[in-house]
Amino acid sequence: MTGSRVVALGHYQPERVLTNDELATMVETSDEWIQSRVGIRERRIAAPDESVDEMAWRAADKAVANAGLDKDEIDYVVVATCTAIDRSPNIAARVAARLGLGNPAAIDVNTACSGFAYALATADQAIRAGDATKALVIGVEKLSDWTDWTDRTTCVLIGDGAGAAVVVASDEREIGPVVWGSVPEMSDAVRIEGREGPFQQEGLSVFRWATTQLPEIAQQVCEKAGLKPEDLGGVVLHQANLRIIEPLAKRLGAVNAVIAKDVVESGNTSAASIPMALSKLVEKREIPSGAPVLLFGFGGGLSYAGQVIRCP
Ligand SMILES: CC(C)(COP(=O)(O)OP(=O)(O)OC[C@H]1O[C@@H](n2cnc3c(N)ncnc32)[C@H](O)[C@@H]1OP(=O)(O)O)[C@@H](O)C(=O)NCCC(=O)NCCS
Repeated sequence: MTGSRVVALGHYQPERVLTNDELATMVETSDEWIQSRVGIRERRIAAPDESVDEMAWRAADKAVANAGLDKDEIDYVVVATCTAIDRSPNIAARVAARLGLGNPAAIDVNTACSGFAYALATADQAIRAGDATKALVIGVEKLSDWTDWTDRTTCVLIGDGAGAAVVVASDEREIGPVVWGSVPEMSDAVRIEGREGPFQQEGLSVFRWATTQLPEIAQQVCEKAGLKPEDLGGVVLHQANLRIIEPLAKRLGAVNAVIAKDVVESGNTSAASIPMALSKLVEKREIPSGAPVLLFGFGGGLSYAGQVIRCP
């Protein structure tokens, strides 16, 4: 085998919807400010007793069911998250236990909002190296646990949720080469520090970096996959801000692609945003099966990672 591919996806969001109007009763903000600056209309917030591993398990269970796999065949579980409360066990081990898997390798990856693209790259690499055959790749966050609900500059941005993908060996490289990296001089620009957090960021400098530096890196992802941006059928960028997503997709020249805009109804869910947005597009069949889709995450670190996959 020479490659790997995504065969199925699944996602989970908590029931509780938090609207902009409700936020305006909690802090000095407005639906108009939030929609015009970030594009978010509403987001989902987990219940106090709804844990990161529970959300991850619910998304993973759907992905495994959609893949039609025997759970015992999964030999690699990788979870991207930056909001786990416990130091050990990791979320991957807890998901493996909840799902009743055999004896999979179980690792967590923490690169915040770029986490899913990093995790997917490690699954692809493990499969191509012959060290795994069927992988579960999950992005999950409960950012509401790490948010200062009196700080209007951050609490209006975040949401909770999970997305998962099943990845298997394939004759072709249907998960393309990863382009990944970080910006050490801006490593403190997005932070969740200490035992309580909260989530903080230098919003403007991250915004400038994302809109000026990332289009070229996203272009490199396409080049490494041997594609032109106009060949893309879908673009799923990290869902932080519609004012970053739309210009980035435009500057890239992805003129024929469906652009994921799940931020509107989910807010910024960090590592969960890409698999959740992709899973929804696939569920609604908005991207044709087999079409190339650019996945590209960026955030805390500052870190970034992306690859082009074939849509399942
Ligand atoms: C965070 C972000 C939405 C803020 O938008 P912005 O246009 O830069 O807004 P600013 O922080 O400059 O604030 C502008 C004004 O709105 C005010 N403001 C901030 N949050 C507000 C809110 N929720 N409601 C109303 N006013 C608000 C500020 O106090 C400021 O007021 P002032 O001009 O009187 O000082 C934007 O910077 C961003 O998206 N950054 C990148 C985020 C990102 O991609 N992170 C990486 C992944 S997590």
